Amino acid sequence: MSVAKKDYKKVTTNTLGEMKQNGEKISMLTAYDYTLAKIIDGAGIDVILVGDSASNVMAGHETTLPITLNEMIYHAASVVRAVDRALVVVDMPFGSYQGNSLEALSSAIRIMKESGGHSIKLEGGSEIIESVERILTAGIPVMGHLGLTPQSIYKFGTYTVRAKQEEEAKKLLADAKLLEQAGCFALVLEKVPAKLAQQVAESINIPVIGIGAGAGVDGQVLVLHDMLGMTHEFNPRFLRRYLSLFDEITGAVQSYVSDVKSTDFPNEKEQY
Ligand code: KIV
Repeated sequence: MSVAKKDYKKVTTNTLGEMKQNGEKISMLTAYDYTLAKIIDGAGIDVILVGDSASNVMAGHETTLPITLNEMIYHAASVVRAVDRALVVVDMPFGSYQGNSLEALSSAIRIMKESGGHSIKLEGGSEIIESVERILTAGIPVMGHLGLTPQSIYKFGTYTVRAKQEEEAKKLLADAKLLEQAGCFALVLEKVPAKLAQQVAESINIPVIGIGAGAGVDGQVLVLHDMLGMTHEFNPRFLRRYLSLFDEITGAVQSYVSDVKSTDFPNEKEQY
């Protein structure tokens, strides 16, 4: 089933702007490896985010802070090798852009050169605007990320909904406009009230892609392993699970163990 209004052959940053103009919602999922990236690209996803959530999902860290630039480049290069159509966005990891704008630029250049990714994403607004501007001068497309920004978890103290209070909501709206003015091609809004997210999407011309930000934005993003039901413990209200792979994989492995133990596997046809 497809609800695309137009068949975009290869998705570029311009395509996303066109989609917003045409009222076509943008679909985005994370991927960190070749095999799953190949599947979701073939299935028609518009944008693949090589998220720093790889720190949690792939490496088992409690937060996104430990993942390194080298590790992000490794994941991104694996994804890029799989992709024919989707736009690949690569997260800049914690510590690779906050120090100063020159360091930010050299980190972004490493990502683009060594992974072949098509664009980068970084977290924050006015605090990192110099880095955003410097990266853009090199012709590297930048996606912003506001609301719940997991790299600042120790500042927030919790993963609850952000910008519920007027002051924080005002700053978020101002940051969104600042990122648009600087030249970002899109913006992720994570875990903010739906009404505010819609207000942001209506106030700027670049696409706003939400996660836990309601339906009034220009697109949606989820972590692939969460929407496939591979993870168990993470149950936020915004998450829709399309499969229960944790249970399916558990069942398959149990069957395999049992078949090996009982000498049912391999059978006559499964050997040389
Ligand atoms: O790293 C990530 O997966 C993300 C999404 C949650 C937007 O930044």
